[in-house]
Parts: sequence; C-alpha cells; structure tokens
Amino acid sequence: MTAAEGPGGGVLVPPTVAVHASFLAAVEEFRAEGRARADDNSMLGRDILTHGDRWADPDAFAAYVRLTLGDADDEAPRPPGHVPSTVLWWVVGDTFVGRLSIRHRMTRRLLEWGGIIGYDVRPSLRRRGHATAMLRASLPVARRLGFDPVLVTCDWDNIGSRKAIEACGGVLEDRRAEKLRYWIATGDT
Ligand SMILES: CC(C)(COP(=O)(O)OP(=O)(O)OC[C@H]1O[C@@H](n2cnc3c(N)ncnc32)[C@H](O)[C@@H]1OP(=O)(O)O)[C@@H](O)C(=O)NCCC(=O)NCCS
Repeated sequence: MTAAEGPGGGVLVPPTVAVHASFLAAVEEFRAEGRARADDNSMLGRDILTHGDRWADPDAFAAYVRLTLGDADDEAPRPPGHVPSTVLWWVVGDTFVGRLSIRHRMTRRLLEWGGIIGYDVRPSLRRRGHATAMLRASLPVARRLGFDPVLVTCDWDNIGSRKAIEACGGVLEDRRAEKLRYWIATGDT
C-alpha cells in the first residue's frame, strides 16, 4: 500500500486498529466542530453518526475497521447511488491525522458535485500541510483505480481544500453551484 512520506512522517495506510486511541480523540474534535449532525451527509459524518457511540469498545472499533476496508468490495452494502471506495487513513506514528476516500466509479452526482477523492484532517492538526501531503500521496492509488486525471471538488469558499488541490496540480474546470471542480493528473506523481 502507499507509504508516501508526508509532513512529520505522515503515511497513507489502510484503516487500522493501531491508531484506536487517537482516532477516538479525533472523533471528539470532529464532533466539537459540528460534524456528525443529522444533516452531515459526508462519509465521515455518517460513520460517526451510525457507529461512533460504540468505538470506545476495541471489538466494535475493529469491526468498524473491517467494515471500512470492506467498502472497496463491489458487493458490500451501501446507500443507494453510492459506489465502492478505497478508504485510507493518514497517520503519523500511532496518531490518526486524517482520512481520505477514493471512489471507484464516476457517477453523475460525483461528476457534478462530489468528485472522486474526499478527505478530512482532524481539527487539531490542520494547517500543517497534512491535507496537501495526503492528497498527493493518494494520486498513485487513484491512478491504479483507473483515474487520470482525477476529479476533486471543494466548496468555493474552502480555502484550505482549494490550496491543497492546487498544490497537487489541480486544474480548475469550472464552478457548479457551490462546488469548484478540479482535475488532477495522477500519472506524473
Ligand atoms: C480542508 C482541510 C482538509 C485542509 O486540511 P489542512 O491539513 O489544514 O490543509 P493544509 O495544511 O495542507 O493546507 C493547505 C493550504 O491551505 C491553507 N489553509 C488551510 N486551512 C485554511 C483555512 N481555514 N483558511 C485559510 N487557509 C487555510 C494552509 O495554510 C496551506 O496554505 P499554504 O499552502 O499556502 O501553506 C481541513 O480543513 C478539513 O478537514 N476541513 C473539513 C473537511 C473538508 O473541508 N474537507 C475537504 C472537502 S473538499
């Protein structure tokens, strides 16, 4: 799996129980900034809402890790209209820093709005270059999944995400509603 070095020795790894304690702390940070409310339709928000109350239990967390790894499987259960995705976590040592998902197929909604790669960095570790490094490290994975270039979108006013995408070579195609749509070459990374 990808092990591109990032700031502070960050690496992109498959979800793992090795970062259990810091994952729980990160979830509290995400909750504190208002994530995982009923209207949070992000993958992270839905996961916290659905499973988060059980994650302190190591067995339940291990089950969640298996479930997340299994999202790459075509046959796994998922909400209507959703496609399989490869989920990767950005870790520094045993510290969970962020998460990223790469959808396996384009749909009309992803083309118009969501893009192929989505990511979150835990609030306490933002503005240190992690999103940029994590996104860059994911590009070879996206390439192996057949995307070159790969579509990455962000809200027009999400400065941090815009800068991360542009630092990874993102070329702006257009703005559709709230979303800026960028294409990033994955072949020369
Ligand atoms: C957007 C997000 C992923 C950025 O993560 P990050 O690790 O802070 O990003 P980076 O440190 O790589 O920052 C990239 C650049 O944006 C700048 N930046 C980051 N957050 C910023 C902010 N809130 N306001 C202004 N600039 C910001 C950084 O200083 C850096 O600038 P530089 O390249 O000139 O040094 C993070 O804020 C987050 O998880 N937000 C919530 C979820 C989200 O929006 N996900 C993206 C969906 S498209």
